[in-house]
Amino acid sequence: MKKILIISSSPRKGGNSDLLCDRFADGAKDSGHTVEKVFLADMNIRYCHGCGACNATHKCVQKDDMALILDKMVNADVIVLATPVYFYSMNGQMKTFM
Ligand SMILES: Cc1cc2nc3c(=O)[nH]c(=O)nc-3n(C[C@H](O)[C@H](O)[C@H](O)COP(=O)(O)O)c2cc1C
Repeated sequence: MKKILIISSSPRKGGNSDLLCDRFADGAKDSGHTVEKVFLADMNIRYCHGCGACNATHKCVQKDDMALILDKMVNADVIVLATPVYFYSMNGQMKTFM
């Protein structure tokens, strides 16, 4: 049994990629895995300042919701990243998260 963390980055809750996340979660739960989904639009995630402090501390100086999400990521066995295609790429929400 694995701990699965889904990061859903569409601003549209219940939109196409979010629905795919939920279908994936249903299948994973049916197979006995535990699943948690984080909806990025509900989170406060600030832009990287490029200060470089994390190079030494492995922590971000900003106080936002990334600390909470990073804890979840460290505890997960599998991380699923879901994004709509925006301009031939992942969307800005996912880029900011990464
Ligand atoms: C700003 C913006 C840019 C988009 N760019 C693309 C694109 O380059 N290629 C594409 O196939 N669809 C593009 N789309 C369409 C979305 O990928 C599509 O509507 C997707 O299903 C939205 O995902 P969501 O329902 O999870 O929000 C774009 C949509 C938006 C809002």
